[in-house]
Amino acid sequence: MPYFCVIRVEGDDETVRMCRSCKWWNEGTVAVVTGANKGIGLEVCRQFATCGLNVILTARDADKGQKSAESLNNEGFQNVTFHQLDVTDKRSCFALASWLSEEHGGIDILVNNAGINGLLVDEAYMNENDIKLEDLMKEEHRSKGFIIEYESAKACVDTNYYGAKYVIEALLPLLRFSAQGARVVNVGSNFGLLKNLNCSKLQQKLSDLDNLSEAFLDELMKMYLTDVKQKSWEGKCWPLHFPSYKMSKVALHAYTRLLALQVQKKYPTDVKVFVNCVHPGFVRTDITGGRGRLSVQEGAENIVRVALLPPAECPSGQLFLERQLGVF
Ligand SMILES: NC(=O)c1ccc[n+]([C@@H]2O[C@H](COP(=O)([O-])OP(=O)(O)OC[C@H]3O[C@@H](n4cnc5c(N)ncnc54)[C@H](OP(=O)(O)O)[C@@H]3O)[C@@H](O)[C@H]2O)c1
Repeated sequence: MPYFCVIRVEGDDETVRMCRSCKWWNEGTVAVVTGANKGIGLEVCRQFATCGLNVILTARDADKGQKSAESLNNEGFQNVTFHQLDVTDKRSCFALASWLSEEHGGIDILVNNAGINGLLVDEAYMNENDIKLEDLMKEEHRSKGFIIEYESAKACVDTNYYGAKYVIEALLPLLRFSAQGARVVNVGSNFGLLKNLNCSKLQQKLSDLDNLSEAFLDELMKMYLTDVKQKSWEGKCWPLHFPSYKMSKVALHAYTRLLALQVQKKYPTDVKVFVNCVHPGFVRTDITGGRGRLSVQEGAENIVRVALLPPAECPSGQLFLERQLGVF
């Protein structure tokens, strides 16, 4: 089982035992998690803390983030510290970078977890059909009950794609080059798989890494948002269901692959920076309206496992669909 570094079979003791069995980190290993005041991000912090890492829990809302960090401190995890971070605000990203540099000198693991679903609920449809939000997320309702409009689409792309990029741009220079390798884990989604696009040409273009660029991805997001603004997005390459969320994750996945290539070319071969994406599974959190197959613990484990893979087993530029390597 090469990719099963951290497994919670049942109960916390098992998590700790499995962590120890393949441990490459120590209490000086710094892990930063974005969007960690609740949901999967908070649980990733808890699991990192259980494994003995030095955890930086970040959140856009300082009160919420501080409270979440304190709750972990109260559980006995003194190795968790809060710092404010709004991933859509470049100044906030660089303020975090400068604090990390002063306090810790560098970081070893970055988990880009912050995300929003970009959904704007159609209240009139819900009222007319007497449907609750949880029911709206069900398969049979996916094409109905949501309004696709510019503001929420832009917020979604800004958070899930540009937000992750801003954080990486600010924190990449802080990654420490150890023999164990620094790690960037972007929390992607199976909704960001290329098969969700309605256009084989675009699928091919996004698969062709040699000819892909960040400029193309930025242009693609611009085209999508322009189409939404002009209410002309239907019948094009964009997915019909949850288009903003899916497009933002498509771009995040492609960016992850590009970044993995860039760092591989930029640094000498003995310097390792592992950059991967993880789809945590369909997890019961606020983003899914509380629906899902997995608990937050199970979803977070899928991310923690990849972040803590032993160096010899850690790929780069790959997508993990829960526990398995997947196809973009
Ligand atoms: N749950 C699933 O089934 C599922 C499946 C696939 C992928 N994912 C991905 O998993 C990640 C975590 O989602 P979740 O399920 O844990 O949802 P969640 O409970 O809604 O948590 C999302 C987190 O992101 C934070 N966030 C949003 N915008 C932010 C910003 N601008 N700056 C900093 N933080 C921000 C939220 O903070 P606030 O509290 O301030 O809003 C919250 O802490 C997301 O990237 C999501 O796309 C989830």
